[in-house]
Amino acid sequence: MMFPLPLKRRKREAASPTESVAPSSLFPDVRIFLVERRMGTARRGFLTSLAQRKGFSVAHEYSGDVTHVVSEQNSLTDVLSWIERKTGKPTQSPEDQESPHILDISWFTESMSLGKPVSVEARHRLGSLEPPESNEKDVLLSVAPYACQRQTPLTHHNSEITDVLEILGKAAAFQGSEARCLGFTRASSVLKSLPFKLQSTQEAKNLVWCGGHCQAVIQEILEDGRCHEAEGLQIREQYQCMELLTSIFGVGVRTAERWYKDGVRKLSDLEDPKLKLTAEQRAGIDHYSDLKQPVTREEAERVERLIKDALHGFTPDLKMTMTGGFRRGKQQGHDVDFLITHPDEGALSGVLKKVVDWMDGQGFLLYHHTKVRSHVQPRRRSTHMDGHETCYAIFALPNLDSLDSEAGVSVVPDGDFPSPGPRTWRAVRVDLVVTPYDEYPFALLGWTGSKHFERELRRFSWHEKNLSLNSHGLYNTEKKCSIPATSEEDIFELLGLQYVPPSYRNA
Ligand code: UTP
Ligand code: MN
Repeated sequence: MMFPLPLKRRKREAASPTESVAPSSLFPDVRIFLVERRMGTARRGFLTSLAQRKGFSVAHEYSGDVTHVVSEQNSLTDVLSWIERKTGKPTQSPEDQESPHILDISWFTESMSLGKPVSVEARHRLGSLEPPESNEKDVLLSVAPYACQRQTPLTHHNSEITDVLEILGKAAAFQGSEARCLGFTRASSVLKSLPFKLQSTQEAKNLVWCGGHCQAVIQEILEDGRCHEAEGLQIREQYQCMELLTSIFGVGVRTAERWYKDGVRKLSDLEDPKLKLTAEQRAGIDHYSDLKQPVTREEAERVERLIKDALHGFTPDLKMTMTGGFRRGKQQGHDVDFLITHPDEGALSGVLKKVVDWMDGQGFLLYHHTKVRSHVQPRRRSTHMDGHETCYAIFALPNLDSLDSEAGVSVVPDGDFPSPGPRTWRAVRVDLVVTPYDEYPFALLGWTGSKHFERELRRFSWHEKNLSLNSHGLYNTEKKCSIPATSEEDIFELLGLQYVPPSYRNA
């Protein structure tokens, strides 16, 4: 039994990252303002940090010193009236030399990739014509077949349809049909990437991956506002039980199916001693009510701070990055995923054990299992096999007030000690992955997701480039050699793909 130790007092954090990491501007003549409309808060935040890292000055609020206004999917009229609404002042006419440049994202992208502001050309300027509407048909026809060739934002315009397609996909998976599940996932992913709301069945006919069954579903939703098949599936006992059972940590479709066949219908049925539960499943059941509550970004950041401080106690310059859904801009997730790396391989050896021992010593470790590093051979086919040294844990995250309290707190997991008063922590799923430095870009790409984006990247690499990609590297299986990369941008380039920022990988 572990002894609860007092928590270290939480260090007060510095200012928000966008303020703290912004270096002084390298380009005094340029002050960028990013228009949030249609761009969204998450992407705007991402682009802001990107520009600041590259030495650009970015204004959070619009003001007179802004020189370059950058927006996405807006017309000139949209932007001018948006600024007017925000500032309450009419904007100067765009012909006015003193006015800021009102630009499309292309100016920003080009400047970022060059690392300096490119001079403004006509093609960068927003026209006064209303955009998309007129060429929606072309957009529909030109949707690229692989999700990694598309930009898929977190929030999109077709959730009414994609929610249904996802239910159908889940039901197919619960019935053991991965192929049918993939069909629904592909259609759903295409609709998520559309920059407008699908209006008619005719439009859907032009879309890649949206034929057959999916087309009928889309048609029904567009015409009737509902899908009878999905409604029927959702009320089935089998669907509901499978959803419940597969939501337990450590339970996949096959286990859930077996239990369902054995008569398991609710969580309490799992207390039957005849069912041989793994330690992972036991922990998943014990912490079920906590784990089914989504982890918020604030909680994820608190976990990050605690673990990062501990890591830096071992080796000050260990690098730890939050990946998974949070890196894609999600505000909540089912777990928190971290990558740990260091240029010196020696600094990484034993680090996972040290973190695990530290978590245990602090009383943070409710459950864990680790996977040792396995050498991942490049295969004939691309594989998503992941052989990094990984710790899958359930972390007892102290409540905010207990972290802030002057006295410090003890984290006492259920059952260890009878604790008087309300619980001062909640269980959170945490994955820690240790990766050698040269594999880091591949691990980052592989662990950022989404799962469908990853699957499509590997499929694209294999079928279009004859290269095998996984979260360790990129391999030319014919020449039997690996192709190094130093960043995610590198990997996209090696694959001949346009770079997709994390916030657009929500396929
Ligand atoms: P997650 O399952 O954590 O998904 O895997 P997510 O996108 O972060 O979603 P939420 O918000 O937690 O629900 C993140 C990425 O890590 C990869 C997955 O393929 C996914 O792309 N992954 C996960 C691995 O490569 N190996 C694993 O063992 C687990
Ligand atoms: Mn995750």
